[in-house]
Amino acid sequence: MNVKKFIAHPSQHLHGELRVAGDKSISHRAIILGAIAEGTTDVTGFLEGEDTLATLAAFQAMGISIERPAQGEVRIHGKGLHGLQAPRHVLDLGNSGTSIRLLSGLLAGQKFDSEMIGDEYLSRRPMRRVTDPLKTMGARIATTETGTPPLKIQGGQALQGTHYVMPIASAQVKSCLLLAGLYAQGTTQVTEPAPTRDHTERMLKGFGYPVSRTGDCIEVESGGSLTATSIDVPADISSAAFFMVGASIAEGSDITLRHVGINPTRIGIVNILQAMGGDITLLNQREVGGEPVADIRVRASKLKGITIPKEQVPLAIDEFPALFIAAACAEGETILTDAKELRVKESDRIQVMADGLIALGIDARPTEDGMIIQGGTLGSGTVESHGDHRIAMSFTMAALRSTGAITINDCANVATSFPNFVELAQQTGIQLDLVE
Ligand code: S3P
Repeated sequence: MNVKKFIAHPSQHLHGELRVAGDKSISHRAIILGAIAEGTTDVTGFLEGEDTLATLAAFQAMGISIERPAQGEVRIHGKGLHGLQAPRHVLDLGNSGTSIRLLSGLLAGQKFDSEMIGDEYLSRRPMRRVTDPLKTMGARIATTETGTPPLKIQGGQALQGTHYVMPIASAQVKSCLLLAGLYAQGTTQVTEPAPTRDHTERMLKGFGYPVSRTGDCIEVESGGSLTATSIDVPADISSAAFFMVGASIAEGSDITLRHVGINPTRIGIVNILQAMGGDITLLNQREVGGEPVADIRVRASKLKGITIPKEQVPLAIDEFPALFIAAACAEGETILTDAKELRVKESDRIQVMADGLIALGIDARPTEDGMIIQGGTLGSGTVESHGDHRIAMSFTMAALRSTGAITINDCANVATSFPNFVELAQQTGIQLDLVE
């Protein structure tokens, strides 16, 4: 079914135990590193969303045999660092920024030419953040005149290691350069202005490839190899975030989210909700394949507005659409600054969320790099998600506190990151109609 629209009705509360979809960032990296490892890598908990399946299909097109024995299970027959073949066709990465940016680093180091395209949304997103530093390493890679996809890569270049000081805190840029670094002469160093998700570094180590960190500088050296391993992908904290916000704002809620990744570079949603007065407990904390995991219990609470600490922004970068809903339901004012990156995500998440909140009667003022939101009463109305999965899921949660139904347009892309969102939302107590 190709869902175009959600109609979310005012609902009572969320309850029950659930395991949300697998972590998107980790699933992408499992395919990429599994493909260039030597031997067979088995993955469980894999996110079968459109974004990660786009990465999977790209490697199949480059001659990697990948099996999918059961739901959430993937077996990758890696061919080593130099085993990829020239793609059989142009690589279509759909809506996925992570795929195109990480692959640009990997493909820059190959012997063959390649071209990557995306859907109408990805085709508007900035790529110079990866192509500029790759060019300084000797890559030949072209964008459109405005710096957007398609990306055309000329293979067979001798890459040189570099030390790149990132002007923005981006795990995609960091990961792109580390992947290029596997093929570059000497060492490649990336300094980050603030901690960003470190799944690439953790997983490279899991595949036996040395990565070192000194302060905020991460370093790889070429000449090593990756050895196949098995990977248990935890549930995605970014998908859990919608339910964390939903349960926090809907009186009487009590849910437990099972087996969620709580990597310290992803934990901003927990820290920020707790600072707003959220009732969140991390249970059964454990480590699974180099990533920390916990069950997360969330009960309803009276939230209050806060000024979001700057250092939390990169740690919650994908969770602001959901957090804006929490802020709309909180008492008082919430202020977000230093989050300009939100303007270049799957949509301009500052403008799109402000427009939607205003349409529902909330005093939301977008700023250049954030938003100021006065807590209030969410009314009924129609909002536009602009094809952005996280906007659609956030406004679904808003209906837990709205005075009437919320119609959310353009929802098909929820399948990019959370294919069974609707089922889990309905199962935990949200009244949601789908319109084709
Ligand atoms: C991701 C990094 C983040 C995040 C994206 C996934 C990754 O992007 O927003 O959803 O898997 O590396 P940036 O690196 O652009 O911040």
